This record gives sequence, structure tokens and C-alpha cells, in this order.
Amino acid sequence: MAIQIDEKKNLFTLHTKHSTYQMMVGPYGVLLHLYYGAKTEGEDFSYLLHPADHGFSGNPHDTKGDRTFSLDVLPQEYSSLGTGDYRTPCLRAVWPNGACAADFRFESYERIAGKPALPGLPALYENKPGEAETLKIVCKDRVSSLRLCLLYSVFEETDSIARSCFIQNDTDSIVYLDAAYSCCLDFLQGDYELMNFYGRHTGERSVERAPLRHGKFVAESTRGASSHQQNPFGILCAPHTGEEAGECYGVSLLYSGSFLLSAEKDQFGQIRLVAGIHPDGFRWRLKPGETFQTPEAVLCYSGQGLEKLSQCYHRLYRKNLCRGEYREKRRPILINNWEATYFDFDEKKLEEIAKTAAALGVEMLVVDDGWFGKRDSDTSGLGDWTVNTSKLHGGLPALCARVNDLGMKLGIWFEPEMVSEDSDFYRTHPDWLLHIPGRPGIRSRDQLVLDLSREEVVHALFKAISGILSCAPLEYVKWDMNRHLTDVWSAALSPDQQGEVAHRYVLGVYSLLERLLSAFPHVLFEGCAGGGGRFDAGMLYYTPQIWCSDNTDAIDRILIQYGTSFGYPISSVGSHVSACPNHQTGRCTPLKTRATVAMSGAFGYELDLSKLDEEEKKQIQKQIQFYRENSNTILGGDYYRLTNPENGAALAAWQFVSEDGAQSLVNVVFLRPQSNAPAQYIKPRGLDPFSRYCVKAEQEPPFVLSGSALMHAGIKLAPLMGEYPAVQLVLKRVE
Ligand code: GLA
Repeated sequence: MAIQIDEKKNLFTLHTKHSTYQMMVGPYGVLLHLYYGAKTEGEDFSYLLHPADHGFSGNPHDTKGDRTFSLDVLPQEYSSLGTGDYRTPCLRAVWPNGACAADFRFESYERIAGKPALPGLPALYENKPGEAETLKIVCKDRVSSLRLCLLYSVFEETDSIARSCFIQNDTDSIVYLDAAYSCCLDFLQGDYELMNFYGRHTGERSVERAPLRHGKFVAESTRGASSHQQNPFGILCAPHTGEEAGECYGVSLLYSGSFLLSAEKDQFGQIRLVAGIHPDGFRWRLKPGETFQTPEAVLCYSGQGLEKLSQCYHRLYRKNLCRGEYREKRRPILINNWEATYFDFDEKKLEEIAKTAAALGVEMLVVDDGWFGKRDSDTSGLGDWTVNTSKLHGGLPALCARVNDLGMKLGIWFEPEMVSEDSDFYRTHPDWLLHIPGRPGIRSRDQLVLDLSREEVVHALFKAISGILSCAPLEYVKWDMNRHLTDVWSAALSPDQQGEVAHRYVLGVYSLLERLLSAFPHVLFEGCAGGGGRFDAGMLYYTPQIWCSDNTDAIDRILIQYGTSFGYPISSVGSHVSACPNHQTGRCTPLKTRATVAMSGAFGYELDLSKLDEEEKKQIQKQIQFYRENSNTILGGDYYRLTNPENGAALAAWQFVSEDGAQSLVNVVFLRPQSNAPAQYIKPRGLDPFSRYCVKAEQEPPFVLSGSALMHAGIKLAPLMGEYPAVQLVLKRVE
């Protein structure tokens, strides 16, 4: 049983395969956190609490002189401002008289089979019945009928717990929520380090790891999207935790808007981790009878290093978050025309690209930006979702028919959330934007943001997009978002609801995607926001793959995909082979290297294939063949980061092991040319020590070794000459 309840001792214990999480209804009815870590019998951990009279840490009124009970010190399940706890509060409830306070005490609990969906929000779900069990704990404010309902869904097999909560206003007065986070994780002890994933446009998800100091570290986005700059995913780990050993805890937020992930070390060295919607500019008006549901946060624990933690998230998100026909199916290998043509194309050029690509084995053409309205540059046309027939004569039906005749599928680019001032859409609906009356709005890439907090805007977009998707058998949509939110004000909401706009915008995006997914269940959606500017677990619920970065340079991509792999499955990483020299960095890398990197994800090409010579075309044919043969291992297997490619490493190596363990793929890219170079040794992981594997690298004679020899003695790689050469080794279990 994943959930154990001891009513006598007031204990709630959640067990996953390798972890235990325990809380208790403590003195005075406060829900206290007791333990989260390696699996135990579920002993009573209340002995860990240390009641003491601490100076300057106050005591709630109902303790009646018990100076050893202070919420400023005790570990809690959900902290609230106004209880004498000076650490980060999860909830800030503001009453009409301006007072900010709520003090929640246990009221009831309920055990729910399975995993409830969350209204309007992405959420984990059960893939098979019996995979999850949920505990709902209801607490009530001491002096009012404001209720806090905490949800814990335990996914036993993947060592994860999905947490969220909703606030229910059962009072007869309005309450404003100035913050309502998804989860709080209090640790009584531990010298932890935090890993966060920061970056910029074309340089997303670099890994940073630092010990927590007294005070707070905050990874956040206030941009209205989860952002390139920080990712809503973090790992708290013990100092010596590495890939293969050590304790670590992941916190992953299923949310695509402004977020905050804060790690605080308090006066006693205790740690508090909170995650949720960013409170800056947030204020939710909760009328009597209304509830506010927070996004879900997924906690994962590994006592066996970062590798296991990532593998849990990968499996969970592949099977219990991503949806649709392509959830666990290999996605079509695509050719995207963006870096091949930018805005300069017509149907002839596209057909030429498709013809060459089809002959090489590519399965889908994606027509990127520029097929609609008046769109020859990024300064006009956004919002006008009608085909530009002076570029595409015969429109999408004719293009689709010709592409289908070549045996390929057709996909298309949209940027639904935006509008250009030079567009008919803007001229018709100048008031459908996020804008502050009387203030000139901020432009970014010459575009403005539509007010998706408004139902009529969402409805109009649904009509426009479904019109296009119904006019021809389109099978893929790339959903872009090329700027962040500013001027966050909606003409449709009252002054005291303006703090809701940014969150309602995200809910609008989710609702639009949900409607499109149910109207077009066969269409594969790929998320994108100037590359990986909205690469988060919330989007993965709607789009099982996301364009990982606008930076297609293979060497930079190694780092970006390395960082991404900590929290997100390989199947979710959109990755393409592009031209040489690379358009973002000017760097030249071998075609083989570009393919090796791009194949570690949802694979495709994005270059003018007609510029390639025959030898290169043959190579591409082989690459496609190779990807097809190995895609089960790559997309559905376990992922191993064999090296850390950052900080001047000599090589980058990563590995996949198929779910049944029968096959493995080791990819290596040499990052620094060296003269008189030593041999390099790579130690694969995740093999069966007692089985024997045939190891095959291109153009090398195969050899057979035991799993144990391969993992402990390693594979020798002779040094390769030239810049950034790559090697791919296929390991097949033979006995
Ligand atoms: C964004 C995307 C690119 C491309 C352009 C088109 O930057 O990330 O891949 O689609 O928009 O404008």
C-alpha cells in the first residue's frame, strides 16, 4: 500500500519503491512534515522533532504558554503568512481589511484511488489502473472557514509524488491570494546543494550547482513563460551526490508561466524548498464559494545518484504526462525549412526540399514561419492565419497532396499567442492585446501579445487554427511563442483582478491546446518558444516534444541537451541537423557529429539539402536508417550521462539502454583536438554484468565482452584526428 495511515499516532506515510515521506497532525492540529528520504518501514519519525524555547520565534495563541511550539522552527507541509513563521510562506491570504493571515489546522483526510485530474491544468495521470494512489488532507483556518486541501498522489514504481493544493473559500467574504505555491518541502537537517538550470536564448539549461548558504536562493521567471533564463526544475542533493551514488530530490513544476523555486536555509540550518506560481504581480480574488487550484509539482527521490533521478522523471513523463498517439511512438523524422529558407520560399522551393528529403528517407516536411498573411519578415503578418497564396499557389491542400505523393507527411508552424501591428487581425481587434491603458506597450521582435486570459480570444484562435488544420491533412504543428509578456493588463477583468491576468493567460494557452488536441487527435504538436524558452513539464502534457533550442550548433547542443536531460525525457527533445558553418555560431562540425547529437532526441533536419554533395546525401540516408534501427533504445530506454561535457572536457559521452536491456547505444563526441593524444576509455553503464555484448562501431571490427568487463574495464577509443569527431557504438546482448 503506497499510503499508510496511523490514526492513533496521527501519522500519514507515503511509500514509493525506494522512498518514504511522512507527515503528522502535530500538537494543536498543525500538519507537520517529518521525513522524506530512503525507504523505511514507516516508523514514527516524530522523535526527530526538537521542541525547545527559541528566542524570537513566537508561539501561536492556542499553545497557551507552551513556548516550545513555534511555527518559525517546525517543519511544515504548507506554510502560511501570519502564523509567526518568518520563512518563505506558501500562502499569503489577504482579507478585505488588508490583514494578511491564515493559520491552518487539520480537519479531515480522504484516500482516493488513482490520480485526479486538475481542472484546466496539466497533471500526471495513471497509465495503468492501480499505478497511483492519492491522499487528500483538508485543513481549515483557525478563525475562518478558509480551507486548504493538500493533494499527494503517490506513483510507487517511479519513486515520485505529485503534489498540489487548492484553497477553498467557505467564508462569506472575499479573500485575495497574493501567493499560493504548489508545494513546500521542509528538511530538519542536511548540508544540501541545489542544482538549477539557467540560460538565455540559444543557450538554455546550463547546469549550476552550489551549496545552500544561510538565506535564500531563488530560481525564477517573471516573464509570463517558464523561460530560457531559468527552468522550473531543481535538484536538491547531498554534497557528494554524483551520477551513480548519493541522495537527491527533484522538484519539477508542471507549469509554463512565471514561477518561483526557492531554497532557504534558516537560522537552525534547516532547509525549506518551495515551488509555485511567481508571486510578483500575482493576486487572485477568491469570492465566497470559489476555489483556487495550484499547478502540480512532482517530487522525486533517488538514493542512487542523479542518473536514477533523471531516469525516474524520464519514465514518468513519457508514460504518465505526455499524451496522444505519439506518446511512446517514434515521431516522424522531419525536414524543417526554417534554416534552409527563412522567409524566402514558395511552393516550388518547398517541393524541391521535400523531393530531396523523401529520397533520403525523411518522413515529414514542416513548413515553418512565413506561409500565412503578409509575412516576409518578422515585422508583419502574425495573427493572419490564412495561407499566402502568392507564396503557396494552390494553398495548403495542393502542397499537402504533392508532399503526400512523395510518401511524406506535412506539418506547419503557428505562433498563435502573438500579433503583429501590421496585420489584419490587429486592425480588426486592436483591443484584444495585453496592454495598459494610456501607456505605450513594449514591443519585442516587433510583436505584441494577445490577451489569452479572454475566452473570446481563445475561441477566435481555436477557430482560425482549426480552419487551417481542417483544410488539408496536416499531421504536425510547431507551436511557437517568440516573446515574453509585458503590459500584463486585461480589458476584460476588473481592477482587483489584474493580478490574475498572467496566470489566466497560461490557463488560456492550456485550454486552447486542449481543445485542439481533442479536435485533432492525430496531429503531433511540438512546443517551441524561440527554441527552449518554454521547455517545461506543463507544456509536455500538451506537446510531447519541444524544440530544445534555436541554437543548432552540435557542440553547444551537447551542453544544452545535457542540462535538459536532468529533468526531461529524451523523446521530448526536438533536435535537428543543420548546415555547416552553423547559422548561430559559425562553427563547422562533421555531418556525423551533427547527426549523433540530433539523434539524441526527436530527430530531424533543418538545412538546404540541395547544397549537399552525393557523399553527404549517402551519409544522411545511413543516419536515418541508423536512427530507425535504434529509436526504441534512444526514445524508450534509460539514459546515462557518461561524462560531464562542461568546463573544457575532452569528450562528451552519453548512453541509452533499451527497456529490455538487450541493446545499448553509446555516443561519443571528442571536444578538443589534441596532438599525441592518449587513448580514451569509456565505461558504459546499465548493462547486465553476466551477459555478453557484441560491440560494433562503424568501420571497426566488432568484438564481444561481458557486461561486467565493459562496465568496469571500459571500452578503448583510439584518438581521432580533426575537429569534433563522433563515434557511435552499438552494443547488442548476444548471450
Ligand atoms: C523561433 C523558432 C524557430 C523558428 C522561428 C520562426 O525562433 O524557435 O525555430 O521557427 O521562430 O520565426
